[in-house]
Amino acid sequence: MRKIGVIGCGYVGLVAGVCLAELGHIVTCMDADRSKIDSLNEGVAPIYEPGLGELIIPNVKRQRLLFTNDIDSLIESELVFVAVGTPNKQSGEADLSQVERAILDLERVFNSESRQIKIVVKSTVPVGTGNRLSRQFFAQAHWLSYVSNPEFLREGSAVYDFMNPDRIVVGANDIDDALEVAKLYERLNAPVITTSIVNAELIKYASNAFLATKISFINEIANICEGVGADVNVVSHGMGLDPRINPHFLKAGIGYGGSCFPKDVRALKQIAGSNGYHFELLSAVIEVNEMQKYRVIQKLRQHLGRLEGREIAVLGLAFKPNTDDIRNSVAIELLEILLTKGVSIVATDPLAIDKAREHLPDITCISDPYEAVAGVEAIIIATEDPLYMSLDWESIAGLMAGNLIIDGRNILSPEKLPESVVLEQIGRPNRASLSDGLNANFEDIRKVA
Ligand SMILES: NC(=O)c1ccc[n+]([C@@H]2O[C@H](COP(=O)([O-])OP(=O)(O)OC[C@H]3O[C@@H](n4cnc5c(N)ncnc54)[C@H](O)[C@@H]3O)[C@@H](O)[C@H]2O)c1
Repeated sequence: MRKIGVIGCGYVGLVAGVCLAELGHIVTCMDADRSKIDSLNEGVAPIYEPGLGELIIPNVKRQRLLFTNDIDSLIESELVFVAVGTPNKQSGEADLSQVERAILDLERVFNSESRQIKIVVKSTVPVGTGNRLSRQFFAQAHWLSYVSNPEFLREGSAVYDFMNPDRIVVGANDIDDALEVAKLYERLNAPVITTSIVNAELIKYASNAFLATKISFINEIANICEGVGADVNVVSHGMGLDPRINPHFLKAGIGYGGSCFPKDVRALKQIAGSNGYHFELLSAVIEVNEMQKYRVIQKLRQHLGRLEGREIAVLGLAFKPNTDDIRNSVAIELLEILLTKGVSIVATDPLAIDKAREHLPDITCISDPYEAVAGVEAIIIATEDPLYMSLDWESIAGLMAGNLIIDGRNILSPEKLPESVVLEQIGRPNRASLSDGLNANFEDIRKVA
């Protein structure tokens, strides 16, 4: 059992703090945002993550978990995790001001300490940051050491991922520092990589960039599928059975979003550039992702002609299912494009409605999907939420004024939709091309027969 401080109570810091308390450590979570801490002190998580709320109150009662706005409350900590934001600047470079602020504050808090304290950075920071910050801030403070411990959790399953990691990566200049941090996780029984700080930092960026590359790759295959009449769902299934490829992140759609992939891919490209290397592949990954959402606009135009004045419902606003996070959500970007074209939008989402209302006060947000689709000419599914698979599509078709459904996440089964619906998916033959028999693959032909 160790005394741990956490700075930043967002998706990463709060989950890490709560889970470390659940693992038996005594954790003080600090955030500069007063409303977040007030909410946590009332036992309410300020973000939605499955299983998170349930772990807060019991650990507070066991006196293993405390929330504060006051950084001086971290004084007893032996290790302090930094999990503040690292957004992109306009240039694509990561903005490290929140991390630097947190480290400066910690340097002040621990200024007169004589014991060894570890600053463990969970925020995703550019390769080289750890060594630079150690030199810049800890040159005179030898009792502070910098450890990199990148986080790989996924929003929507963050608690599960933290407790069941594929690997734990710890980078430090001294192996004893790395082992001390790795020991915090010993109950998790996961493979541990102890390495240098730069290796740890690059593992995080390379992992996210690789996953984003898989998504852009399959989206390009989907676009070819539309040209040749193939079905990307079948193609990706066939590819994914090869264990060298694997099926994860091979789902075609309207592109990746969220607070990590877009920023980390851009940051890695920028890191490469500032080290004299042009990362050509990532430029293409970014460009493909930027363009992919325009497939929806293209399909809308193809069926509706002029978009101005059209009434369209967007199903899904969060960047993925099971979260209320709309940061860099493709759904929101798509919605903003549609607004510029004069489309009248009704949007719905099971968890992100409040955040969307705050972000886009001009759109109508309705919690009930059936109410949202009433009288619209077209529906766009923008988030891969299983909720939308189980809707009563017969009723929905009856409620709509038009009959066009654009499934931007390929989650609907065409055979479950009423005949009257015109369904467009990404990289999949539509029903019109199936009926002429030319573009169908065998599976589709069997279904049609
Ligand atoms: N969200 C993810 O899925 C995920 C996964 C892996 C890694 N990461 C990385 O983890 C980091 C945090 O991401 P997040 O999504 O949790 O961010 P977030 O924006 O949800 O949370 C950051 C928190 O830090 C607080 N904060 C900022 N500066 C502070 C300061 N000086 N003192 C105290 N509190 C401060 C903010 O108020 C906010 O609550 C980022 O670098 C991100 O790239 C995120």
